Amino acid sequence: MSLFVTLEGPDGGGKSTQAKDLAAHLGSTGVDVLLTREPGGTPIGDQIRKVLMSLDNAGMLPQAEFLLFSASRAQLVHEVIRPHLKRGGVVVCDRFYDSSLAYQGYGHQLDLEVLRTITSFVTGGLKPDLTLLLDLPVEAGLGRRRETGHWNRLDDYNVDFHRRIRQGYLVMAEADRSRWVIVDATRPMDRVQADIRSIVAGRLA
Ligand code: TYD
Repeated sequence: MSLFVTLEGPDGGGKSTQAKDLAAHLGSTGVDVLLTREPGGTPIGDQIRKVLMSLDNAGMLPQAEFLLFSASRAQLVHEVIRPHLKRGGVVVCDRFYDSSLAYQGYGHQLDLEVLRTITSFVTGGLKPDLTLLLDLPVEAGLGRRRETGHWNRLDDYNVDFHRRIRQGYLVMAEADRSRWVIVDATRPMDRVQADIRSIVAGRLA
């Protein structure tokens, strides 16, 4: 059975580790699972990722940011995600277009309708079946990023920006509870992973 799962949330919520653990677990139970991430996940996408993350590119406009994320996304959808779903596999994606709506839309306050229109053009209308929102307070998330040394250009915006992002995620999740599940990411990693596994198992059953 094909299933497209995305993990979303503010920075520092442990999404990447959770996505990896989930994919490893599914693989060990015989599921044909593919783990990928945004931005990146293809050779072209990985080059775009470097431009987006570089601390040298402080002058990048939110509009340019959005279009670069979208370009990376187009490659990922067409080269990787769609073919795997078509084969009946499960795709676990660490961030997808909801990150653009949260960061460039709610965070940078670009017009959400414009972003949605371009996103639908880029993805050909593909939507995740399940989106897990790893939610945690902004201060906790940014603190974790600093501690682990995983600081990038996009973390460098102010705290209000990150607050709008978290709020935006919660608004999107509330608006579509059939796709979104909110997971409390302030808890220990193994507890969060246990919840994630049981939610995904429910969808696969
Ligand atoms: P990454 O190092 O992958 O962070 P994380 O581990 O938190 O996922 O960096 C991705 C950054 O890019 C993160 O700050 C969120 C941001 N982002 C956007 O602003 N828009 C997008 O569309 C995507 C996919 C990511």
